[in-house]
Amino acid sequence: MKFTHTTRSLKGELTVPGDKSISHRAVMFGSLAEGTTEITHFLRGADCLSTIDCFRKMGVEIQEFQDRILVHGKGLHGLHAPASILDCGNSGTTTRLISGILAGQAFSSELTGDASIQKRPMGRIITPLLQMGASVESLRGNGCVPLRIQGRSLKGIHYQSPVASAQVKSCVLLAGLYSDGVTSVTEPALSRNHTELMLSYFGARVTAEGTTASIAPDPVLCGASVKVPGDISSAAYFLAAALMVPGSEVLLRNVGINPTRDGILRVIRSMGGQVDILNETTAGGEPTADLLVHSSSLHGTVIEGSLIPTLIDEIPVLAVLAAAAEGTTVIRNAEELKVKESNRLDLMVDSLSRMGADIEGTVDGMIIRGGRPLHGTVIDSHLDHRIAMSFAVASLTADGETDITNAECVNISYPAFYEDLAGLML
Ligand code: S3P
Repeated sequence: MKFTHTTRSLKGELTVPGDKSISHRAVMFGSLAEGTTEITHFLRGADCLSTIDCFRKMGVEIQEFQDRILVHGKGLHGLHAPASILDCGNSGTTTRLISGILAGQAFSSELTGDASIQKRPMGRIITPLLQMGASVESLRGNGCVPLRIQGRSLKGIHYQSPVASAQVKSCVLLAGLYSDGVTSVTEPALSRNHTELMLSYFGARVTAEGTTASIAPDPVLCGASVKVPGDISSAAYFLAAALMVPGSEVLLRNVGINPTRDGILRVIRSMGGQVDILNETTAGGEPTADLLVHSSSLHGTVIEGSLIPTLIDEIPVLAVLAAAAEGTTVIRNAEELKVKESNRLDLMVDSLSRMGADIEGTVDGMIIRGGRPLHGTVIDSHLDHRIAMSFAVASLTADGETDITNAECVNISYPAFYEDLAGLML
């Protein structure tokens, strides 16, 4: 897809699609609950549709309407063996969270996914699941999917996770639903806590203190109404675009601002960017607000440490923003980016430097000396939705033509992304 822009402003307002992490969890936990779960503002992106497909294969009736999804839960012990292999598509969240659930079932199952998911590390969930007594096998012996999981009853453990990953934490907590005692996970830094919030909203006994979350086994989960907030990871592209393009002012309505996800807002502030937080409210434990963003003159910053998990998916577009800022931005402790849908560290460094940015990769991040003009070129998205959207934003200030290959991969998390971006351009 080709993007040629003369500089123009972005103006108007937008409601971004529902949060991907929360949409996945609402389908999963609704499936394990008694009664019906109604989900509004559900993200109909390919990843969340993979989750729906997997639970349908295990006997859960899920109805899709224009404005809501109804999940008719089977209870904690009501899933049945899938007749075929579970296909998680491109979705790490589906793969890792469902593995925790499958480990405790009274049946065996297999799961796989697309070429990208087949390369992503599953050892990080296999290790704690084996400690809980689960039977999980990487069928190719490479620590990746396809996995075969023979469900059994599990034992509660305390797991000291080597990575700050909500997917790992959630996998272990979900397996904890099927264990014989309390299960807890301590992370090196706090990752997104949607699992803890939503499981307790559904009736599980979950406690959280610092970077440790614990769950008691065998709760009765009750179906509930879930209003999914707009995804801050999707809002991020418009925040960056409006900050960068002079004369812009954009109102993003109903965006989730959970403190385990709002690192981008803190970074924008530290760069001198102006985002007003309006109409704050909370639903199901998840805070949301309208975000009014104004184009701003930006300077470099440092992004590191416990901030990283709170903005992990936003780092590609933050790199674009840093290239537009004056001065140097340093990103550290972000090695997790190498094992996302693509190697996002290498791809951002390579592609932004081909556009003319002064950017250098480091072992665990990058150094960006901002302020150089960008030039359009061919950008290979590597089928990674966040790379495609980040370079659509970069193209807004680049001269010439930016040609993003397989740009339609935005379907994973934001099917209407290009239309929504075009709708704000003056
Ligand atoms: C997610 C957690 C993050 C994030 C991913 C969604 C989740 O992954 O990158 O897009 O829904 O739990 P990690 O937990 O592996 O960091």
